[in-house]
Parts: sequence; structure tokens; C-alpha cells
Amino acid sequence: MGRNRADVKNTFIETFGTDPEVFRAPGRINIIGEHTDYNDGFVLPAAIDLAVYVFIQKSGSDRSKLISVDLDESYSFSIDESLAPVDQGWVNYFLGVIDQLQQVGHQLEGFNLMFTSDIPMGSGLSSSAALECGFGQALIDLFGLNVEKMDLAKMSQAAEHKFAGVKCGIMDQFASCMGKDDHVVKLDCRSLEYEYYPADFKAYDLVLFDSNVKHNLADSQYNIRRTQCEEGVKILQQVNTGIKSLRDATLDDLAKAKIAMDEIVYRRCKYAIEENIRVQEVCEALQAGEIEKVGQIMLETHNGLSKDYEVSCKELDKLIDIATNCDGHIGGRMMGGGFGGCTINLIEKKKVDEVINQVVDGYKMSLGIDAKVYRVAIADGVGRYK
Ligand code: GLA
Repeated sequence: MGRNRADVKNTFIETFGTDPEVFRAPGRINIIGEHTDYNDGFVLPAAIDLAVYVFIQKSGSDRSKLISVDLDESYSFSIDESLAPVDQGWVNYFLGVIDQLQQVGHQLEGFNLMFTSDIPMGSGLSSSAALECGFGQALIDLFGLNVEKMDLAKMSQAAEHKFAGVKCGIMDQFASCMGKDDHVVKLDCRSLEYEYYPADFKAYDLVLFDSNVKHNLADSQYNIRRTQCEEGVKILQQVNTGIKSLRDATLDDLAKAKIAMDEIVYRRCKYAIEENIRVQEVCEALQAGEIEKVGQIMLETHNGLSKDYEVSCKELDKLIDIATNCDGHIGGRMMGGGFGGCTINLIEKKKVDEVINQVVDGYKMSLGIDAKVYRVAIADGVGRYK
């Protein structure tokens, strides 16, 4: 996982003959509020101590070079050429961000860049958002651009839409930009107002189990879910003209619209409306220190994601199923877009080692796959590193 930062810095100096500036952008977890961001709802993510590290310096010409230290691949281009998506997947996150900055008139010059990442790819911890935000921040500082962090988050999201083809919401990029050490942050994805809450889970630890699978249909199914939610909104507007997105709809509205709705669209809407309510409930429970309740609500989310929204998979369901049968596990759910990646769990501190062993062994026994375990800490959002 990720190359030693001092080594990368030395390699940069050897390769380009200049001292790089270094930036760090974190991945994220999400306590609750899954698939609510693009429905204008609420989310409750936090930035974590797994991050992307970007090493950058001006090249002194229009030429730019990107080097992925982890993949041992590189890509060269001119900052003046018109940019379009390329086949080398990771390069698109960079080109997308440059494209966004140039579109609003920022002047860039050539640069050399190396990066390494601790964030496992495809694990649902938003390694791509971290790349976009880390690179964006690096350009902003290197060229003295006047861009607020919230705008960096929005541009990074747009880069992902245009250059990676995933119509993601704002949550991941927001968390990578605006995360705060020891805090979770509740974001209203419509107004972009946000509020930090102390990440105090009392006698419980947050533990991630990585299913170690990522099914190919993840991106296409993600975009389909968005379309299904939009279809639902159109029908809901017939019973309540005030509904602009699922965030505005109540379960009563949905009951009235049900008859005119495709059964699948109905279940997608039901999940999204209920999940938005659950974010509020979790925030209240956190403030009251009722962590068992938080765990309970996370399990409800998992059921909704699995049965109604149908973005889980047998591996994620198995991880949750095994964990819920362990003494000391008080709640958990699949996290992120779905179809693989991690589950997020609350486990009693005293029993955490025992539960981890039981889940890892049980998963191996039933599906023959080795689960990975991440015990992440909550950290600050994007910034200069040392
Ligand atoms: C992915 C997307 C986010 C969000 C989650 C699901 O991580 O990038 O915008 O929609 O899925 O909550």
C-alpha cells in the first residue's frame, strides 16, 4: 500500500532535478446516507488517514508528465493541447481536473508530477476522489489559483462525470476536501451547508471489512440508479408539485404515487426517502451518545441497500451476515456505491479482535475469499503535506 513518501521525493529529485511540493488528499468513510447525495439529501462522511500523496513541480515549459509510482506507468502531454478522455484509466482523473480549471479560465503551465496512494482501489474508500482533490489542490497552490475548497470539490466531481463517466454525487470529493480530524461532517447536498460532529463512538470502534471484490457492473448500475430516482421524481411530482428531487418527498407522497410507479422505481424511491430520514436519526443518536442506536440504524440501511436499492452483492451481504452474528458487533452496512468494496461496522472495543477473527474466518470459509481489515482513523481533508 502506497510507496514510502521520502523515497518518492528522492526519486522525484533524481528524475526531474527539482524539489517537489507535496500534497495529501484523503479517502473517506461514510457513517450513513448512502446514495442520498445525488438525490439532494444528507450524508455523514469523514476523511480518513489513508490518502493519496501528490509530488509536483513546474516543468518550465508547456510539457507535463504524470507518473504513477504504484503502477509504474507514465503519461506525457502538453498543457496547451485540447483534452479528452484517454484509455489509461488513472490519467483521466488528472485530465478531468485540468479541463475543469481551464474551463473557468485558470492559466496553467507545464508541470511534472508523481503520486502514490495508500487508498486501496475499488474498495469504496474513494481513491479516485482523493486523486482529483489532491491534484486539484496541488495545481491551485503551485500556480497560485484562487479556488475555494468547496469549488475544488465541485470541479473534481465534474471531472469524474466528464472524464470517468461516473455520474457521482458530491459526497466523496466533499469529504476529501472538507474533512476534519476527529469529526464526521453532515452535509446537505442541496444547499452544501455542512456541520461537523465529534466522531465519538464511545465504547465502540469503527472497523472496515474489505470484501476484496469489485464487480464490473458497479459504474453502469450506479448511473442506472440515478436515472431510476429521476423517473421516480417525475411521478412523485404528479402527487406533489413541490417535489424537485427525492429529498423533498415523504413516504406519504410515495404511497400516493405508488400506483403509477414501476415496482423497481418504487423500491429505489422508498430506500432513498427512508435513508434520508436515517441520516437525521443517526445525527441525533450521535449527539445523545446512543451508539447502539447508530449501529441499529446502519443495519436498516444495509437491508435497504440490499433489498430495495439492490446495490449490494453476495460478498457484502455475507460480511454483514457473519458480523451480525458475532457478540460485540452492534451494527454495520455496505459502504459507498456498492457491488463490492467495504462494509463499515461498529464493534465493542473489548471484543474487536475476536469479532475481526470471526468475520475473516467465516468469510474465508463460506466464500473462499480473504477479507481485508482496515482500522482507519478520522483525519483532515486535503492540504499541503509537511
Ligand atoms: C459513490 C459516489 C458518491 C455516492 C456514493 C453512494 O461513492 O461517488 O457520490 O453517491 O457512491 O452513497
